[in-house]
Amino acid sequence: MLAALGMSAELHLKRRPGVWKMLMVAVCVALLSGLQAQDLPGQVSIILLGATGDLARKYLWQGLFHLYLEEVGKGHHFRFHGTALTSTEQGQEAIAKVLESLSCPGDMASGHCAELKAQFQQLSEYRRLKTPEDYLALSKDIEAQVEHEGLRETGRIFYLSVPPFAYVDIARNINSSCRPGPGAWLRVVLEKPFGHDLHSAQQLAAELGSFFREEEMYRVDHYLGKQVVAQILPFRDQNRAALDGLWNRHHVERVEIVMKETLDAEGRTSFYEEYGVIRDVLQNHLTEVLTLVAMELPVNTSSPEAVLQHKLQAFQALRGLQRHSAVLGQYQAYSGQVRRELQKPDNFHSLTPTFAGILVHIDNLRWEGVPFILMSGKALDERVSYVRILFKNQAFCVQSEKHWVAAQSRCLPRQIIFYIGHGELDSPAVLVSRNLFRPALPSASWKEVEGQPGLRLFGLPLSDYYAYSPVREQDAYSLLISHIFHCRKDSFVTTENLLASWVFWTPLLDSLAHEVPRFYPGGAENGQLLDFEFSGSHLSFSQLLPEQLVPGPDSAPLPSDFQVLTAKYRDSPLISAWPEELIARLAGDIEAAAVRAVRRFGEFHLALSGGSSPVALFQQLAAGHYSFPWAHTHLWLVDERCVPLWDPESNFQGLQTHLLQHVRVPHYNVHPMPVHRRQRLCAEEDQGAQAYAEEISALVTNGSFDLVLLGMGTDGHTASLFPQSPAGLDGEQLVVLTTSPSSPHRRMSLSLPLINRARKVAVLVMGRMKREIAMLVSRVGHEPKKWPISGVLPDSGQLVWYMDYDAFLG
Ligand code: BG6
Repeated sequence: MLAALGMSAELHLKRRPGVWKMLMVAVCVALLSGLQAQDLPGQVSIILLGATGDLARKYLWQGLFHLYLEEVGKGHHFRFHGTALTSTEQGQEAIAKVLESLSCPGDMASGHCAELKAQFQQLSEYRRLKTPEDYLALSKDIEAQVEHEGLRETGRIFYLSVPPFAYVDIARNINSSCRPGPGAWLRVVLEKPFGHDLHSAQQLAAELGSFFREEEMYRVDHYLGKQVVAQILPFRDQNRAALDGLWNRHHVERVEIVMKETLDAEGRTSFYEEYGVIRDVLQNHLTEVLTLVAMELPVNTSSPEAVLQHKLQAFQALRGLQRHSAVLGQYQAYSGQVRRELQKPDNFHSLTPTFAGILVHIDNLRWEGVPFILMSGKALDERVSYVRILFKNQAFCVQSEKHWVAAQSRCLPRQIIFYIGHGELDSPAVLVSRNLFRPALPSASWKEVEGQPGLRLFGLPLSDYYAYSPVREQDAYSLLISHIFHCRKDSFVTTENLLASWVFWTPLLDSLAHEVPRFYPGGAENGQLLDFEFSGSHLSFSQLLPEQLVPGPDSAPLPSDFQVLTAKYRDSPLISAWPEELIARLAGDIEAAAVRAVRRFGEFHLALSGGSSPVALFQQLAAGHYSFPWAHTHLWLVDERCVPLWDPESNFQGLQTHLLQHVRVPHYNVHPMPVHRRQRLCAEEDQGAQAYAEEISALVTNGSFDLVLLGMGTDGHTASLFPQSPAGLDGEQLVVLTTSPSSPHRRMSLSLPLINRARKVAVLVMGRMKREIAMLVSRVGHEPKKWPISGVLPDSGQLVWYMDYDAFLG
């Protein structure tokens, strides 16, 4: 318009100078008033704090340059202020180097690139930003420069690439001295970690919330800037027709969300030691991806509010994690690196996990029962990140495999893979099995991947997938910086979203705080050591360790005191593992013994102890042992409390609840101890102990049980045979009445001589509370009066100890 005015003014000048003069005055007035108005070109100032740091050097300056290249022709003016605490001279030098190394997209002519790069360098400066006065001076300088250049201030972006402890001070300074004037916006960009647990995240959120409005904050999760991750919702949206019927528990077998790394934490241990793999990667990157896959799809997937609401709903449906939802590992060199980098003493050993596998369940109609496996680790065999949605397959194909056609065969695996990056494909991609459907992706930005002969991914040749990759690969930070500029808040983590994630992860982190991770050598040598599997909601390593780690004598339970021991305890075989593995192993051994006994003798006599330790065993037997010969199994009790059988304290009641209800043992094969006769509890004259002994003698050949399961009390008692109480430690009696130091005091128990007649005795010892007695009993001889457990030594049968690591390590 001004140009048009100028031209007509020229014509008037030639004809009527007076009129022209008047016109010029009018134009100037208009121009001046326009100077305060929206018509003026706007300037955005971007202030990068921590501008000489690692992240800034590697990604952020390049991202800013990319933004400049994208926006420069569109009428925006920019200024870039790199700031840090370093002196002006050093900072300028460092920034000059980074700016020199910036690159343009491959398809830009080099001359044009050089020109734009020179412009960008000119618009970028370094300044020290430390004191409140520095912030004020920066603000004044921006205002002065904007005015001087006849521009209007559009907004300021503060990108905080600094450690989180600096956030609050910086936020205070920005808020008090460096906010832009009225009409211009403020955006503050924050990098993780956003807290260490729910409490610290809440605290940080509250502090930041006192300086900035929610819409002013952009919390970066760089995974949301990965092209493939950013494509998950659009993909689900654009392929609604095909996915509507498939994206649910009826069709999805499992979902895997994986980030494997080959690098370790060397050089970063001061950060890593405090955070570990779950806080570093799972709580944020993998959880964000999980919500994008699991959330209900909003009608409008580009509405940040709708996306956030649906994400929050997904969080609400997540089933709480338990200790057994996780497996943890640590690469062997880690503790040494921590000792070196953090000047720790030689005997320091870290418990920080560098590897984690987590099993997540989502309790809603869409996903109930579908396992979501999250996994990440350092020092693994390859670098790759992906989400894999594997579909169920109920097809049966009659033709032999060689006749299967990728696009038609229902028997080939059916999967959708969001290949986030690296790995064998070495580029981001979206893969859909050809036997599923041909996906729609925006053709301007996604192209079909060219075949790579011989390349197989997730069990299929690449040619069996519809495979698409971005036309132009873009770094996550460039994408996010562009989204910040365009106010695309759906690519960032809101406060609600962040806290919901911490609500989910914090209980697990608390329960794992003292877990000893499984050590792994790193790289390809890990072999199958870290493979894990799930059963119900339990996750466990697939491989039991051949060697066990136990603390040295007299040691505090620190991993530094571990030594490798052969699997023996009191000269008998020892099986030791994490609780889930241990129980699985014991249940397997019991089933094997049962099968063997039934094959040889037609029946299996199993005597079980009560208390809390065997509960998990009963549940395991009930849930996972379908070939157990229950119909031929007799169940006996090792001991009983003198309470009615229906009392919750009754051992029989525990057996009933956790096992008998779920398996088919003929009721005449179940032998509760007769502690409740003639409406009296364990009265001598009712001769319950004798009656039980007679029943055993009548049914169990030679009174020799096929298997007796015992526990060990913290005072060294076993069954209901207690220290300093002679009953049942020797002599002829098979079943005795005894006295317990703790309530209920009256007990009935198998005697030691009867126990020792068994073909096999298994002693199950679990939990940290048992550590001391386990250490003690490992050293004492045969002293049943002091420690009745030390009197367990089958006459001709076998004794096996089953101990979990907590019982060793405390
Ligand atoms: C970071 C973690 O957030 O993500 C690092 O702090 C990890 O430990 C990195 O290495 C992985 O990101 P990418 O983009 O290489 O997959």
